[in-house]
Amino acid sequence: MSKSRILLTATNLFSNYHIAKRTLTAKAFIFKKQFDGFPKKSDLQLVEEELPSIKDGEFLAEALFLSWQVKNPKFPEGKYVVGDFGWRTHTISEGKTLPNGFPGAWVVPDFGNLPLSLALGPLGMIGNTAYFGFLELCQPKNGETVIVTGAAGAVGSLVGQIAKIKGCNVIGVAGSDDKGKWLTEDLGFDSFINYKTDNVRKKIKEYAPNRIDCYFDNVGGEISSTIMLYMNVHGRISVCGAISGYNENTLPKATIVQYPITFNQLRMEGFMVYRWVDRWFEGIEQNKKWIEEGKLKYRETVTEGFENMFEAFTDMLKGVNFGKAIVKVT
Ligand SMILES: NC(=O)c1ccc[n+]([C@@H]2O[C@H](COP(=O)([O-])OP(=O)(O)OC[C@H]3O[C@@H](n4cnc5c(N)ncnc54)[C@H](OP(=O)(O)O)[C@@H]3O)[C@@H](O)[C@H]2O)c1
Repeated sequence: MSKSRILLTATNLFSNYHIAKRTLTAKAFIFKKQFDGFPKKSDLQLVEEELPSIKDGEFLAEALFLSWQVKNPKFPEGKYVVGDFGWRTHTISEGKTLPNGFPGAWVVPDFGNLPLSLALGPLGMIGNTAYFGFLELCQPKNGETVIVTGAAGAVGSLVGQIAKIKGCNVIGVAGSDDKGKWLTEDLGFDSFINYKTDNVRKKIKEYAPNRIDCYFDNVGGEISSTIMLYMNVHGRISVCGAISGYNENTLPKATIVQYPITFNQLRMEGFMVYRWVDRWFEGIEQNKKWIEEGKLKYRETVTEGFENMFEAFTDMLKGVNFGKAIVKVT
């Protein structure tokens, strides 16, 4: 029996598992108390659970073993799966479709020489969020100006590079000059705004003299209002997330955006990536091709050890990560 690795996402519940054979004791983080403001370690509890025997239609996924026993033919022997399993080391699942239409688990296709961990980043949900959320909703054209917030995060760093592939002038917004250096020097972004230290309005005017055509919004809040006030007629906004408000107890206030939306006839649309579940592997294939061609670069911020899950999660919320934050179960 050989060993395999499991990678758990720190930002959401999708996990990359290898199918396992034996019944084991699972470790899991459970809520003691719902988060109130910024998450505290005392809100969670690390527990151990004896898993029952698996039934027809189920499979057992675990961290350390390649061999496995399955009673669900949709998840063939020896394959890796990405599943909505929670912060757990071992899980019995049927891989059923979730109420939102998303598969409870999907089998990772062949990545060739690329690392398996990419199933949690550019070759999985994150990559598809960037690929479909940007291209389908922003419809970028050669020569247009695109701005991305959360630009050094997992999704944003891919969106900016896809915008460059499409021939756009790309501005990234993130929270440190080191991140800016990475975006402009390594990933090919044209310019960078540090939203913590720069005058965002002034910098946008400098880097987008012809105003902004596409905005990929990961963060919401006042930065988004500032950007929308400086968009072109018929500009497009893809609303991916609102990370600036995730840990607030009350919804943050920002300058109203109806004025620029009306007068510049902007189109603003939110999305959930499972909208494109029918085209899931198209996104993965295209991003894989771009990675292999050297057009799409990625970076992972890896934390070792399942027990360090909480620290990895709060580091991500504090903006410590470059690219995708993942936890390697050791
Ligand atoms: N709609 C969908 O289907 C879908 C799917 C996946 C993800 N998402 C959303 O997409 C967004 C990005 O996800 P991700 O996985 O790329 O995130 P990520 O890699 O975890 O990056 C998050 C980054 O956001 C930045 N940030 C944190 N607080 C901020 C604040 N108050 N204002 C501005 N920036 C802040 C931090 O970097 P700096 O502050 O240092 O820049 C942090 O590194 C999230 O909102 C997530 O919920 C949506």
